[in-house]
Amino acid sequence: MDDMKINEFDFNLINEYFAGFERQGPGSPEHTIKALGFVGDLSNKTKIADLGCGTGAQTMVLAQNTEAAITALDLYAGSIAALNARAGKLGLQNRVRGVVGSMDDLPFQNDEFDLIWSEGAIANIGFEKGLNHWKRFLKKGGYVAVTYESWFTDERPAEIEKWWMDAVPEINTIAYNISVMQKSGYVPVAMFALPEYCWIDNYFIPQKPRQEEFLKKHAGNKIVENMMAFMRREFDLYLKYKQYYGYVFYIGKKI
Ligand SMILES: C[S@@+](CC[C@H](N)C(=O)[O-])C[C@H]1O[C@@H](n2cnc3c(N)ncnc32)[C@H](O)[C@@H]1O
Repeated sequence: MDDMKINEFDFNLINEYFAGFERQGPGSPEHTIKALGFVGDLSNKTKIADLGCGTGAQTMVLAQNTEAAITALDLYAGSIAALNARAGKLGLQNRVRGVVGSMDDLPFQNDEFDLIWSEGAIANIGFEKGLNHWKRFLKKGGYVAVTYESWFTDERPAEIEKWWMDAVPEINTIAYNISVMQKSGYVPVAMFALPEYCWIDNYFIPQKPRQEEFLKKHAGNKIVENMMAFMRREFDLYLKYKQYYGYVFYIGKKI
C-alpha cells in the first residue's frame, strides 16, 4: 500500500467510526443557537453554507431555527448520505442539501451565501486559509461563524502543548485568532468558548461504548487499535488540561 492509500484508509476508518454519532465534534444545539443570535437579519431568502458538516448535528439546528436554504458540505460521502437521510426524516429536505466536496476548493459561486458556518472543521485546512478562501463566497455584509481549537492562556504545560502542536500546528490564542479574523477582512462580532459539557458529555462520553464495539469489529487491526488509543488519550488530556484550551466560537462580518 502506498502512502496515499494508507491515508485514504485512515480517513475512511475515522469517518466510519464517527458517522455512528449524533455529532462528530464538541458542541451543542444551545451553542449553535447562541452563535446564530449574533448573526444579522435572516429570512427565507437567506443562504447558508455549513462546511465540514459531518452528519449534520448543527445543520439541523440551523435549519430548525431559521427559514434559510442550507448547503452542507463534507469530504466524506458517508456523512453526507447520513445528513441527507436525517434532513428527510425531519422534513427539511426542501431546505437542506448535503454535497460532497472539500472546504479548500468550494464548488460555489462568488457572493452566493449570507452565512458560512463551520463547527469543528476549519483546522483541517487551517483557520487563516479557511477564512480567506471562504470570503469570496460570502456576500458583502455576510457572516462567518466557526468553532476552532484555541489556547485560553499564553503558556501551557509542555505535554499538552506538544499534543496540540502535533494535531493542529496552527493552534493559537483567542486574541491572536481574532486578529487573524480581522486581518482576513471580517469585523470580529463575537466570540465565546464552549463549556466543558460540550466536550465531555456531548463528545467524549458517547464514544466509550463505540470504542469497544469498533475494536471488536476490527479485531487485530493495528490502525484501529492506534486510533482508539488516540481517542482515549484525547479524553484523558482534556480532563487534565481543560483550563488551557477549548473550542471557541468566532463570529465575523465580511466588510
Ligand atoms: C470534527 S468533525 C465535525 C463535524 C460536524 N461539524 C460536527 O461538529 O459534528 C470534522 C469534519 O470535517 C470533515 N472534513 C475534513 N476535511 C475536510 C475538507 N477538506 N473538506 C470538507 N470537509 C472536511 C470531516 O469529514 C468531518 O466530518
